[in-house]
Amino acid sequence: MRKSFIKVLLLTTLASLVLIGCGSTTTQAPQPQQATTAPAADVTKSIADIKAVLPKFAIPMREVGDRFDNMYFAAKGGNWALAAYMSKYMNGAMNPASLTKPDEYGAWKSFYTGSVDPLNKAIAAKDFAAFDKSYGEVLNKCNACHSATGYKFIKLVKPTVPTDVHADFTEKSEPGDVPK
Ligand code: HEC
Repeated sequence: MRKSFIKVLLLTTLASLVLIGCGSTTTQAPQPQQATTAPAADVTKSIADIKAVLPKFAIPMREVGDRFDNMYFAAKGGNWALAAYMSKYMNGAMNPASLTKPDEYGAWKSFYTGSVDPLNKAIAAKDFAAFDKSYGEVLNKCNACHSATGYKFIKLVKPTVPTDVHADFTEKSEPGDVPK
């Protein structure tokens, strides 16, 4: 969703800049040379400017941390849809990084599809014992990536309270209850 929103945003901006560029071409008709080069440079700069203000890793990682905490309590309380939902959007939160930090995003993607998979399977099977066993292992891998990327000081431990203290983690639900 976010990724396509960003694409739409970029395309819309691109389209309007081309239009503005066309407008200035007509008004500046006596200098055709300038008219052909200037808009392209403007567009490139604007795209770079937009990219520069999009989230990289730190902002979505905050959301990853919160959702990963919440996921634990949702699984523990038998609110399986909430656990599945938290996992889904923990991954979705990282989408902007696919554009702003493509290499690092690749590492995230293989982490989510590989290391997080046992958690997703345990959620689908409503198996808290398996979930609990894998949770600590995944957390170690979160920390391993932090160390490997120069953020050894971001060391997370198993949460004792959820991030969202006002959510009902014991509301019973099925893993498949999350709307597509
Ligand atoms: C692909 C490597 C990678 C993986 C995997 C990873 N992280 Fe991170 N994480 C980072 C990087 C890099 C930062 C620092 C971001 C920055 O400063 O740009 C970070 C920062 C964080 C932060 C601090 C965010 C803030 O600014 O407050 C939290 C919380 C966090 N990660 C949670 C997690 C959790 C939970 C997991 C596992 C479910 C995880 N991360 C997996 C790379 C990773």
